[in-house]
Amino acid sequence: MTDRIIHYPHPTLRYPSKTVRRVDAPLKQIIAGMFDLMYEHNGVGLAANQVDLPLRIFVANPSGQRGDGEELVCINPELNLPKGRSTDREGCLSLPELHAEVTRPEQVRLSAYDAAGNLVQRPLHGFLARVVQHEFDHLAGILFFDRIDDDQKQMFQPMLRVFEREYAQGQLAGDILPEDELVKRRQQWEQRYA
Ligand code: CO
Repeated sequence: MTDRIIHYPHPTLRYPSKTVRRVDAPLKQIIAGMFDLMYEHNGVGLAANQVDLPLRIFVANPSGQRGDGEELVCINPELNLPKGRSTDREGCLSLPELHAEVTRPEQVRLSAYDAAGNLVQRPLHGFLARVVQHEFDHLAGILFFDRIDDDQKQMFQPMLRVFEREYAQGQLAGDILPEDELVKRRQQWEQRYA
């Protein structure tokens, strides 16, 4: 199932995603579905592990609107040459309703493959650079609240406990697969694409 966004503390959000070795029609379909989910939830970016797919892929559109702005598919992305610093508010579709000020490099250079297999290399700055860095972090299992200052972290604690309780309830209700099933599913995806 890659048809819904998983929430903190789902373990796939902390799992280091694997390099993609091949892209086929079903995977392109999943990538298209990631855009659908991202727009549906008013997001500007979504990483594959947020739909429980442990592969180095993310999608983004800084406008957040279908048919507007620019849609980016990044497969096996690398970020280089960070420059400057900027602080701005961020949120995450895997932690709905939570926001915090995050400081990141203001510029980065992106190298990634698009869905057609073309290598795309370009400098990014401003909001798009922020979105891409946030999604890139996801692929390493890093969440935006890992990068916030101690004062904000303190404020986050009770809200994280709420997410943890909701997750435990989802497990009890059978909405979330047991841990060993999640491990097996990640292995199946890796065998197929990584
Ligand atoms: Co996020």
